[in-house]
Amino acid sequence: MAFDPAFLDELRARTPIAAVIGRRARLTRSGRNWKACCPFHGEKTPSFYVYDDHFHCFGCGAHGDVISFAMQSGGQSFLETVNALAAEAGLEVPRQTEAARGAAARARTLAEALEAAQRSFVRRLSTPEGREGLAYLRKRGLGEATIAAFGLGWSGDGRGNLAAQLHEQGIEASLMAEAGLMRLDEAGRPKGELFFNRITFPIRDRRGSLVSFGGRILGDGQPKYLNGPETALFSKRRTLFALDRAQEALRAVSPSGKAAAPEPLVVVEGYMDVIALHQAGIRGAVAPLGTALTIEQLEALWRASPQPVLCFDGDAAGRRAAIKAAETALPLLDMERTLRFCRLPDGEDPDSLMRAQGAGTMRAVLAAARPIGDVLFELLSEGVHDPGPEQRAALHARLVDAAGRIGNKTLAAEYRRTLLDRFFETFRRRRTDQNGSAGGRGSGQGGASPAGLGRMSGGRPGPGAGAAGMVAIRRPVDGSGVRAERSRILTAILLRHPELLHDVEEAYCGLELPDGLRQVREHVIAWASTIGGDDDAPGPGVGAPALDSQALIDHLTLAGLSTQLDAVLGRQPLPLAEQVDAGDMPAEVEARWWHYFGLLNFERLEQEMQAALRQWVERNDEPSHRRLRALSEACSALRVGEQADEDS
Ligand code: UTP
Ligand code: MN
Repeated sequence: MAFDPAFLDELRARTPIAAVIGRRARLTRSGRNWKACCPFHGEKTPSFYVYDDHFHCFGCGAHGDVISFAMQSGGQSFLETVNALAAEAGLEVPRQTEAARGAAARARTLAEALEAAQRSFVRRLSTPEGREGLAYLRKRGLGEATIAAFGLGWSGDGRGNLAAQLHEQGIEASLMAEAGLMRLDEAGRPKGELFFNRITFPIRDRRGSLVSFGGRILGDGQPKYLNGPETALFSKRRTLFALDRAQEALRAVSPSGKAAAPEPLVVVEGYMDVIALHQAGIRGAVAPLGTALTIEQLEALWRASPQPVLCFDGDAAGRRAAIKAAETALPLLDMERTLRFCRLPDGEDPDSLMRAQGAGTMRAVLAAARPIGDVLFELLSEGVHDPGPEQRAALHARLVDAAGRIGNKTLAAEYRRTLLDRFFETFRRRRTDQNGSAGGRGSGQGGASPAGLGRMSGGRPGPGAGAAGMVAIRRPVDGSGVRAERSRILTAILLRHPELLHDVEEAYCGLELPDGLRQVREHVIAWASTIGGDDDAPGPGVGAPALDSQALIDHLTLAGLSTQLDAVLGRQPLPLAEQVDAGDMPAEVEARWWHYFGLLNFERLEQEMQAALRQWVERNDEPSHRRLRALSEACSALRVGEQADEDS
């Protein structure tokens, strides 16, 4: 029965094998895998192992994937089993058209064409025509065993030799073309062999089936590497070079069930890096095929390991690639699906590093890989030194944005908190230094320019230095001046965002304020009570006039407070971070308001947070959650600030 192989792959990927087997056998953990007493033969101690995508019994040799397990244990036909599993996985079973049957049959013959080419390439490498190729591989430090294990070969000179050889085996040029072994003319007809005068690298899918080839030129010609085109068997974006071998290394379990020393799954950039790493015993190495990591490749990595290590060069291109990878991964992160990053010294790739310094150094680099959260902060804040309000606001926005991209909301909140904690820890300190000596502590961040970071912030360009504004805000102030300035900013935020009054009114009323600001407050509260309607309403009622900033300012002007208003809003611009558009990220604005409030009365801020926490537990709705978030953000920022004050 012929099904489209892509459909069967999808079915396998969507059907957790451990869950299916768990219905028939009692599974217990064995490292990353599961074990059980074999359901196919009687035994008292478990020798039946369940891996990510297959099972194996070391006792009776039973072996297969989730479909064959379901068939064997359910006693149903292949068709019945596929139908049943697809229904469980919510997948529609494609109709068995002629075309699909043909596609499955052709896929087999494409595979046969590739295997025939592979046999030819391997043989050529050890004949006189492959002598130069073999010498090149030796010169690059590869041993006999490695060359054989990876099936490296020699393409021949491309003058029709391979085509003639395959023709003898009943494989025509058109089939070779479909398998990605031929160049095509404009009409799509085979025009000549794709690979010539190149070392060949067989590319296998994660099951180990041959799907395409890469080819490297000897020496310095262009293009250095050539990869086979997309075919029915080969999709570049779904394939990782050597994933089949890496998976094997990762799940290396001896028959006794003892896992060998755990191998990390490592993603590097090139074919030769992967091969050199395997040769050095670092056998969990894979590589994409010359492109940035795709979603599909990340999914494939996570199927093999919960936290693969991505290894990038130390240069600018490597940094861009790291950012790109983080960007792709963020929406997919989960508690059990994360990444670690490590960076190589500038100008080195794993292959060159190991040749220069040995595998020990490479192992040390890998062992020093750091979690994506740490790396994100560094990538996003790179080049930010001694930031003024504009840069600080832009970085703050980038960090919030990055955390917001994480699909898992619990994790997103966690990252947001961690990133902002680091933000305040790193940059709030500068702020407390600002009154006295300029300079002082460095931010400790790397000195390179933030190439490519704009992309991470969704195209938001970092604002210019804004030096003039910074000078105005940084003018030294004495103790009571500091309180007055904080009170002014807190009042200004309310004038710009009177909608906050619902949440902050009580705290606002309890503050000691200088005379002018107290007058403003009296009128603000009076005005709000005429607008807000009855006290029971959760917010401005649907038909009721909103708590609008301009309306409030007009009202205060009419009430004869223009001098006081000027003092609050006109005398100096607000720090940019406080100039958020009305309606924009209410939690953000609220957090800033509470921040200034906490600077004036931290004890009360903490009480408010406790109250908000109780309210949230009771109601568990969006407004109470927003309030809690705003308050806890302000609290944690200030706690970090306190520490900074203490150790300065
Ligand atoms: P590198 O140029 O870093 O490869 O490209 P490398 O493995 O270090 O090559 P050596 O050491 O000079 O042999 C990384 C990967 O990018 C793809 C290949 O997959 C390569 O392994 N690539 C590179 C291409 O597809 N085409 C090219 O022309 C170059
Ligand atoms: Mn290299």
